[in-house]
Formats: sequence, C-alpha cells, structure tokens
Amino acid sequence: MSSGMFEISYAISYGRLGTPMAAYLDELGGPLSKREIDDLTDWLRGQVALEPYNPSFDAVAGDIEVGKAVYAEHCATCHGTSGEGGTGTALGNPAMLSLTSDQFLKFAIENGRDGTDMPAFDETLSTDEIDGVTAFLRSRATGWAVEKPVLRAPPAAGDYVLNPDSPLATFDLKEDLYVLSADLLKALEEKKRVVLLDTRPMSQWLMVNIEGSVPLPYYYDFSDFAVLAKDLPNDGTMIISYCECPRAAAEYVNDKIRKHGFNNTAVLWEGIGGWVSFGYPVFRGEASVLDAADLQ
Ligand code: HEC
Repeated sequence: MSSGMFEISYAISYGRLGTPMAAYLDELGGPLSKREIDDLTDWLRGQVALEPYNPSFDAVAGDIEVGKAVYAEHCATCHGTSGEGGTGTALGNPAMLSLTSDQFLKFAIENGRDGTDMPAFDETLSTDEIDGVTAFLRSRATGWAVEKPVLRAPPAAGDYVLNPDSPLATFDLKEDLYVLSADLLKALEEKKRVVLLDTRPMSQWLMVNIEGSVPLPYYYDFSDFAVLAKDLPNDGTMIISYCECPRAAAEYVNDKIRKHGFNNTAVLWEGIGGWVSFGYPVFRGEASVLDAADLQ
C-alpha cells in the first residue's frame, strides 16, 4: 500500500469519533479484518484514475501564530471557528488529526479537493502561510484530552427482553412496519415488555445506543440465525430494530428476522439519529468530544 493509502485505511479502520463514520476494524467491534480493509482500500484506490499520491511522513515546520491567523481568515467559515466543522469537515476532530500526517493535511490545503467546496490554496496563500496553518492544525492535535471510551458489554443471551415480567408493549404501526420514537419512548417509560435491536456496527453501539438494546449488526450472518433465534422471544413481544440510516439497515435486519418466523417485529421510524435529536435518553460511551476552548 502506498503511504497515501494509510489515511484511507485508517479512516475505515478507526472511524472518526464524533461523526457518523464508524470504526470498521474487527478489533474495535467492526465487521472487517485488517486484511479486508487493506483490500477495500486498494480497490478504492483503483477507482480513481489520479496520479499516485505519495507524500512523505516528514513533519511540516511552520509558524503556528501565522497559521492561527490564516485559519481564522480563510478556513473558519467552512471548518468552524473551533474546528468543529460546518460545510467543511471537523478539522479539530482528534481522530482525524491523529490518523493523518502533516503532509496529508498540507496536500489537501495546497491542492484542494476536486468536486467539493475545498479550495486549492497554493496560489492564494504563501508557502509560509500554508506551512503555518498546517502546523497550527497539528498543534491542535496535542491539545485534545482524548478520554478512553467507557465501554459496556452487550446484554447476555438471557437478558434480551426488556421488562420481561411486564405487559407487552403494543404499537400503532405506521405502514404496518414502523414505530414512532415518541411511542417507543412511552412504552419504555411505562416499562412495557419489548426487545430493541441495534443494527449498526458494534463500534457504534459501544459509543451510544438506546438503553437496553441488543447489538445485532446488519452484517450478521443470518444463515446462522438459529443460535440467536433461541434467545429472542416469539410470544408476541415486539422486536424493534433501529439504525442510523435512518431505516435501511434496520429494515434489512427486520426482514431477515421475519423470514425466520418472527412476526411481531417493527422498525424505528426516525432511527437513533431522530431519537437523539428529540432529546430522548441514550446510553453513551464516554467518547472524546471536541473541546472548543482548546482551539482558542
Ligand atoms: C468554502 C469552504 C472551505 C474553505 C474556505 C476551506 N475548506 Fe477545507 N474543506 C472543505 C470541505 C467541504 C472539505 C471536505 C472535502 C472532501 O469531501 O473531501 C475540506 C477538507 C479539508 C481538509 C481535509 C480533511 C479530511 O478530513 O480529509 C483539510 C486538511 C482542510 N480542508 C483544510 C483547510 C484549511 C487549512 C483551510 C483554510 C486555509 C480550508 N480547509 C478552507 C471546505 C472548505
């Protein structure tokens, strides 16, 4: 793999904390092995007929103060005054900064990104300014207090059903398939019996999930479903799948489960993204969050 490909394989492997990009590496709870990610990266590389991009890993020495001024004037409108992102990506994202080299940042700044809003600055900024803003971005990487995520083990096989001794949760399904977040919240608050399946990659479940949900990623091998099936209730208890897409992965899983003879199933209409935006409760791993003060 050429050096420029490491950034891509890192992004796929480790994801970007604080963004919807999940970690896909198996060691982190994702579905792919290192080998599969390397193959995928090579394939992606083959899709773009561009000059090979082979920057060195040499650090870029620049004046951070110069860079800070350049950032405020030329970058903050799109990338956010505190690197939190806007129409541009979150340059203050600690995962992005820790997984990219100085040369990668500088290359993006000099050449821009074709087909996106990211302009090329090689003609509008001097070399000192480009080196400065690169060094400024790098200087942000050390300022982040990246806390170790607090991870929690998934529920054990016998604990999939929430409130097992309570009456069944019942729902008015939209289009015979969808449960609205407000109705699910009500059922959970009333401690009704229900099963929640989180169909996103495990790495996302570990970061944030609806309390009590069972991780069942969409890439689960459903030909092997018998093992799981014996731990899922088929007694009228609603099995509700959710994802972030907002529904595609959940619908896929829901479909597989129905094919295995479970008829009381549904999909969360708004997905976990909608659920979160309503301010409904979730369990969160303590993932690092951008601290705006660090960018001042
Ligand atoms: C008009 C909006 C805009 C401005 C101004 C802008 N950017 Fe960007 N920038 C973007 C967008 C959009 C992307 C994402 C491009 C993509 O999808 O690959 C990006 C990507 C980048 C990346 C690559 C990050 C990654 O995650 O791969 C770097 C580094 C970057 N910008 C630095 C800068 C710097 C430094 C400045 C100021 C000198 C700047 N940008 C100004 C919109 C902007």
